[in-house]
Amino acid sequence: MRNFNNIIVTGGSGFIGANFIRHILSDTDFAGRIINVDKLTYAGNPENLQDVVGGIDESRYVFSRTDICDYDAIDSLFAKYNVDCVIHFAAESHVDRSIHGPGEFVRTNINGTFTLLEAARKYWADNKETLFHHVSTDEVFGSLGETGYFFEDTPYDPRSPYSASKASSDHLVQAYHHTYGLNITMSNCTNNYGPYQFPEKLIPVMVLNILAGKDLPIYGDGQNIRDWLYVIDHNTAIWDIVTKGRIGETYNIGGENEWTNLDLVNSLCEIMAELTGKDNKDFYKKLITYVKDRLGHDRRYAINCDKIKGELGWKQSVTFAEGLKETLKWYLENDEWIENIKSGSYLEWMDKNYETR
Ligand code: NAD
Ligand code: DAU
Repeated sequence: MRNFNNIIVTGGSGFIGANFIRHILSDTDFAGRIINVDKLTYAGNPENLQDVVGGIDESRYVFSRTDICDYDAIDSLFAKYNVDCVIHFAAESHVDRSIHGPGEFVRTNINGTFTLLEAARKYWADNKETLFHHVSTDEVFGSLGETGYFFEDTPYDPRSPYSASKASSDHLVQAYHHTYGLNITMSNCTNNYGPYQFPEKLIPVMVLNILAGKDLPIYGDGQNIRDWLYVIDHNTAIWDIVTKGRIGETYNIGGENEWTNLDLVNSLCEIMAELTGKDNKDFYKKLITYVKDRLGHDRRYAINCDKIKGELGWKQSVTFAEGLKETLKWYLENDEWIENIKSGSYLEWMDKNYETR
């Protein structure tokens, strides 16, 4: 098992990063310090961590509001905290936003990753007790037909500005390993769901619209397929890779849980009917509305994750039925979190993305 003392977690105030920090501080025996480096874009929310880090000692948790593209700031953090591990979540992460405005995706996802790698190269040249873990996505592999799976050695074929920027960052991470001998690991994961997900992604968009009695916008024919994984299971996989994964290796992570968007939204409607006490399980389905498709919409993602299961003994721990119900209950019980999200920038995005569909 590898042990680290000072871990930079980038993007620790976003959806997966915040769930990761919550998990590491509460459920593992990690005894060192987490330095959460987050610029707090529209997707970063300090409330995601408040109850876990409020009042916590600086020897365990530090927050730095920093842009990962700012080399001087990143350099100072490496020096100040004697950083020995980076777990890199920070990214522009929403495909639809990348279609409306790809520039920020190139900046953060490519230049930001480059900046972090440069700092790691400078500080870790002679130190092999270090690790750069890069969190990536299954979308770099492209789109599948009705059959087949993405494996770790599937050739890259990104098709949106988001996935192209993530693919570029993956290549940079691999290049720093091969060229400079930087200790790296990588993971490529399928669609996550769970608490604290920003309501621009499919599941929280649908939940908030159900609560507001608004249309449930299904892109295209609703037959696109995604493979869903509970966010905690993604994070246990990342921790397994960071502590036990082979250096230089990529591990696929997935739910082995494929759903068409339409089936998933129908199921969400049924669970929400149950949780909100409706007699008729189909009550919310009348809100389902077909809207203009996403440009270049990838048809199907599906991951083979035998490698991480076989090598590291990881497996999914939460069934989709349990995870979805817990997630929807979380949104129902956290109306204050939802209200705080509904700022000007959130409303502007909803208008921009949906009004012309
Ligand atoms: P998110 O959009 O919820 O959070 C991203 C976080 O990064 C935010 O806190 C934001 O403030 C921060 N950030 C953005 N730009 C920054 C910058 N320039 N400097 C510092 N911080 C910055 O994203 P997420 O869904 O939590 O995804 C986290 C990572 O996991 C991403 O790398 C994403 O590509 C990857 N991933 C996501 C999923 C998914 O289903 N959400 C699946 C597989 C992989
Ligand atoms: O596969 C991993 C990826 O999953 C991550 O790398 C991305 O960061 C993450 O955003 C996610 O990308 P998707 O594009 O698959 O997720 P999204 O929730 O945006 O959409 C899921 C599916 O639902 C997709 O086929 C588009 C569709 N959709 C989405 C929204 C927001 C709709 O039909 N209606 C909607 O309103």
